[in-house]
Order: sequence, then structure tokens, then C-alpha cells
Amino acid sequence: MPGEGDEPVQPRRWPILTAEDRDAVQRVLERGVLSGAAAPEMRALEAEFAAFVGAGFCLATNSGTAALGIALRAAGVGPGDEVIVPALSFVATAQAVLHLGAVPVFADIDPATYTLDPEDAAARVTSRTRAIVPVHLHGLPADMDALRALARPRALAVIEDAAQAHGARYRGRAVGTLGAMAAFSLNSTKNLPAGEGGLFVTDSEELWARAARARFDGLEPPAKWDPERPLDDEAEGLASTPGWMYLPGELTSALARAQLRRLPATTARSQDNAARLTARLGRLAGVEAPATPPDRTHVFHKYRVRLHPDRLGLRVRARDLRDRLLAALRAEGVEAVLWQTVPLPAHPLFARPEPYSQAAAALDGSLIIGSQSCPLFAQPSEVVEAWGDGFEKAWSSVVRP
Ligand SMILES: Cc1ncc(COP(=O)(O)O)c(C=O)c1O
Repeated sequence: MPGEGDEPVQPRRWPILTAEDRDAVQRVLERGVLSGAAAPEMRALEAEFAAFVGAGFCLATNSGTAALGIALRAAGVGPGDEVIVPALSFVATAQAVLHLGAVPVFADIDPATYTLDPEDAAARVTSRTRAIVPVHLHGLPADMDALRALARPRALAVIEDAAQAHGARYRGRAVGTLGAMAAFSLNSTKNLPAGEGGLFVTDSEELWARAARARFDGLEPPAKWDPERPLDDEAEGLASTPGWMYLPGELTSALARAQLRRLPATTARSQDNAARLTARLGRLAGVEAPATPPDRTHVFHKYRVRLHPDRLGLRVRARDLRDRLLAALRAEGVEAVLWQTVPLPAHPLFARPEPYSQAAAALDGSLIIGSQSCPLFAQPSEVVEAWGDGFEKAWSSVVRP
């Protein structure tokens, strides 16, 4: 551990890019094919990610939002339909619903896991509900069995928003295989980063075919690819359905393939770092480290720490304590951020007056250790220990009577 006067340990920035990544990008430049509806890096990424998840089919897209959009379209969601989404997520989960002219209906979260509360979701179902989009927030799978039990008798499509949860497991099964379809993000901040991009997965050939048309302006994806004529396609090119142009570029797909080979190592480092920090923070009264229910694995895309001033008999608002702790952590050199400050329904876009008390309380009383640029999952163990030291000091300074 560094002593007094030592240089502070510098956190490592994300994404980590290696010679493997440069080789992958170079390979694309040498081939000279930058995109295409049957382009080779995209096709290879789809095959490799489908195998990684254990799903029958995969489509790469130009964002995670796009992957959610084609899943909702494949599920038949359209104008006037309602789709249940959690009140705590990135706004893309709800935006993708709006893109189809449908209505996002927010449900509250389970305060222990920060994921969709199945009971509150059940209370929000109406005759217009068409789908449920559980979010595996921060890398922890939602309670999928309870949500599937809610969806099945009502014939609701379950679409996993796995944007933050590559490689996480629920009751032995990989996220991405727990609903009818799933969407992952390849955004630079994610555990599987490639700039901007996304991945759609399903086991259903029919849903895959519908999503493939939605991704390609309603056109049939070409069956063949000619390396001599990579931009030409002999198909008729007649659109049969509305769609978007959501294809990814080849540079992104190649980078994603290189990063995918390192994803198991990224996940292992993330879980080690989280265990190391939890061993430190779990000892502090009034501090709640992220919980991992025994039937799931957590990949700790974000490490959210909840504060409970009441457990220390402190008469201070959780939000005020959080803000003081955030400043104290930064003064100690610990990377810390707020990720989302209000529940989604409180965004001006939705301006729903309902309180969503669990999501609001969780956001008021918690912060994230690590930032988007320097997340916990990227750090070597000495940085994690230094952040543990810094947290202990910052915490004792803000709770001191
Ligand atoms: C939970 C969640 N859903 C959806 C998305 C959308 O992914 P993208 O930014 O790749 O469109 C993100 C990522 O930013 C996310 O965190």
C-alpha cells in the first residue's frame, strides 16, 4: 500500500486496447470492405457471439438501442401498445419503445437488486401490454423466472435488456437466453466495448428473420457474399416491412470480435475487483455493497454502493450524505460518479408525476465506485485496494458526529 507522500495510484482507463485490437482493425483495412448486409466481420461476430451466449441466432447492429428496437419490432410491438420497462435504467430502454410509437409503462425496482420488481410489473399489466423489457442493471440478471411466469399466461414477449450484462448468468443460464430475445450494447463504456454497436440474440428463427428485416430497411438480408463484388447484391431488394438502417460497420465488428476473446478475462477481473472491494466496504456500518443473489452471477458493469444513514442513527437525508461522500471520495482520489440521478419517468420527456419510490430512494442514497472512463472492472488490484482505503477514510469523515 502506498504510504504518506507516495504518488497516488493512477486508475486505468477503459477501454483497454491491445495489439490484438489493432490487428483486427488492420485486417479490415487490408480487406477494404467497410460494411455490407452480409459483410464477413459482421457475420463472424454474429456466429461467435451466438456461440458465446448459447443462442441460436445473433444480429449485430450499430447500437444497443437499435438491437432493442429490432427486438421490439420482431415482437410485433406497434403504435398504442404498452411495454413494461423498469423505472431505473438508461433512457434507451424507454426510447426504443417510443421509436415504435408504443408507450413505455414504468414499473418500480427491487431495492436489493436494482432490477425490475415482478410484483410491481404485474400490477402495471393492462389489456394493451405487449411486452416486458427487464434490464440486467449494472450486470446483475433480473428475476427472470418470476417475470417469465408473469408474461407466459398473458402471451407477453420478454425481451432482455442485457446492454450491461455480457456474460452474466441466472440459474445456470446465460443472459440472452432467458427471454424470447435479448439486446446487448457494444458502446465504449461496456464490458464488451467496440465504440458504438449492439448485438441482438434469439433462439427463434422466425424472430431472427423479422429482426433481420427490421435492421436492413425492411429488406431481405442477402444470402450470399461475393468477396470480388462486396458491395453488390443480386437480390431483388423489395421491402416487405418497415425497417431502419441499423447495420454495423466492419471496423466495429472486427474490434468487437477481438474484445469478445478477452471478455472472460474482463469478467473474471471485474468479479475479483468487486469481491475485493466488497470485503472492505461490507465491514462498514451504514454501507451496503452490491448484493448478488445466490442463483445469479454479477459481472459488475457498475458497482453501486447504497448508504443507510438511519442504521447509524444519523439524522441526515440520504441524498445529502451521498453528495458529501461523493466530494470526500474525490478528495481521496477515489473515482466515483452518480449514474442516473432520477428515475426514467421523471425525465422531462415523460414527466410522470408518480413517485416510483424504490427507484428514487435507491438513486438518492447511492453512488457508483469507478467512473465510465475508469470503471472498477478495468482496475488492477492495487487501485482497488487504494480505492478501498480512500472509501474508508471518506466514509469516516462524513459520518463522524
Ligand atoms: C441498460 C441499457 N440499455 C440500453 C442501452 C443502449 O445501448 P447503446 O448505448 O449501445 O445504444 C444502454 C447503454 O448505453 C444501457 O445501459
